[in-house]
Amino acid sequence: MAKKNAMKSYRLVDILSKPNKYKNLTVKGWVRTFRGNRFIALNDGSTIENLQCIVNFEQTDESLLKKINTGAALEIEGELIKSLGKGQSVELLVKSIIILGEANPEKYPIQPKKHSFEFLREKAHLRVRTATFSSVMRIRSMLSFAIHQFFQEKGFCYIHTPIITGNDAEGAGEMFRVTVLNPKNPELNDEGNVDFKNDFFGKETSLTVSGQLEAETYAQGLGKVYTFGPTFRAENSNTARHLAEFWMVEPEMAFCDLDDNMNVAEEFIKYTLSYILERCEKDLIFLDQRFVNEENSKPKNERSEMGLIEKIKFVVDNNFKRVSYTEAIEILKKSKPNRKGKFKYIIKEWGTDLQSEHERFLVEKYFKTPVILFDYPAEIKAFYMRINEDKKTVSAMDILFPDIGEIVGGSQREERLEVLEKRIEKMGIDRDELWWYLDLRRFGSTPHSGFGLGFERLVQFATGMSNIRDVIPFPRTPQNASF
Ligand code: 4AD
Ligand code: MG
Repeated sequence: MAKKNAMKSYRLVDILSKPNKYKNLTVKGWVRTFRGNRFIALNDGSTIENLQCIVNFEQTDESLLKKINTGAALEIEGELIKSLGKGQSVELLVKSIIILGEANPEKYPIQPKKHSFEFLREKAHLRVRTATFSSVMRIRSMLSFAIHQFFQEKGFCYIHTPIITGNDAEGAGEMFRVTVLNPKNPELNDEGNVDFKNDFFGKETSLTVSGQLEAETYAQGLGKVYTFGPTFRAENSNTARHLAEFWMVEPEMAFCDLDDNMNVAEEFIKYTLSYILERCEKDLIFLDQRFVNEENSKPKNERSEMGLIEKIKFVVDNNFKRVSYTEAIEILKKSKPNRKGKFKYIIKEWGTDLQSEHERFLVEKYFKTPVILFDYPAEIKAFYMRINEDKKTVSAMDILFPDIGEIVGGSQREERLEVLEKRIEKMGIDRDELWWYLDLRRFGSTPHSGFGLGFERLVQFATGMSNIRDVIPFPRTPQNASF
């Protein structure tokens, strides 16, 4: 039954941004701290800021006071007054408190002290109740909204590409198989291999590594499309930039060459970052402080020269440097760490794949700005990329960011049927699985392009979090799929 005269409860973000509008009110949230049996710092997740609630402990039941512990959920009714203390402009004079959910201080792991991110990863179901993770997740949410806003404003159609697929878009063989076959005793075919004809889909299927190939089909009818969804890679990379399950944004555009593609990608990244600069100021200021503290704990020569907000603004305000792979190799060959043997992988000749140490050298030490590398050797890139006139390189482009390395990978797509067929054959890819993809080159083929942005890497850059596991609610990495 609804309480009579129940006061409407308000969100802290609304109260604290326009405190003059409020007087008597109810708030609901979780206790961050409770000091001196008097000051509750309450947070409801709507903002980084807490509301200080003043308890009159002389008039409050001791049994109730005992239940006001960090992590407990409360409903508080009170009067909003100008704060006499420092650190907040208003505070709530408590009239009544209802304990909605207790949190036993002996058992609740998120206490008001500094917890390491490693520790919090093991408490991933509770870590969003900390200031850092709630800020990161609000920014993550805002960035996803900005992504849709950008493409919708530009007339792109949002399409949902399948999660279960029979093709390996990137051809790297890093797929998670999807099967209902009995793992103990799968039926074998005449050649002694698992017979996927009896499997759920009547063929071998996996979780997708990219929605690109399907997005291409829709671009060849809708013109400009984007897909934004989860992608999966079974690569055994235990790094601070790899997840086994991550979200990718993949636009695909008909009648679009590599230059147009780079222009869209650069504009897109700048748009999303400006979007949060305008809308997530308080969270960014908090994360900036955290970032600076973390940097200051590092040796001087490893510290970031800029603060977080400064870094974001720098990216928004400056042109990305566009450099061909060939130029980049020349720069790297002559570079000090290459000559002095400081790179783990020494660059000897044209054609080698770049490692993240090389990418970071180009971005952080040499150009000191985001870099778009283009025209990579065909040998090291995926089958669908368009072969250039020189027959050696493809119209590919990667965008490299400070701290992050590769944030975007994209290309102009091979639209010429014979060229594509030859490439597929040469790379030993199963052509039968791609008959529909080849059809796009048979009927109304167009010069077209697209790219994929690793969403978590963007969130990492925007929040200054050094480990990718701390920017997705429940990270999936080798040996780790809890929660
Ligand atoms: O460069 P990638 O592999 O490109 C593609 O998948 C293309 N099909 C995209 C396209 O053209 N539509 O991946 C794109 C981006 C990378 O630049 C990186 O930011 C991110 O996805 N990424 C990962 N992010 C987190 N964990 C991983 N394991 C990632 N692998 C790639
Ligand atoms: Mg790539």
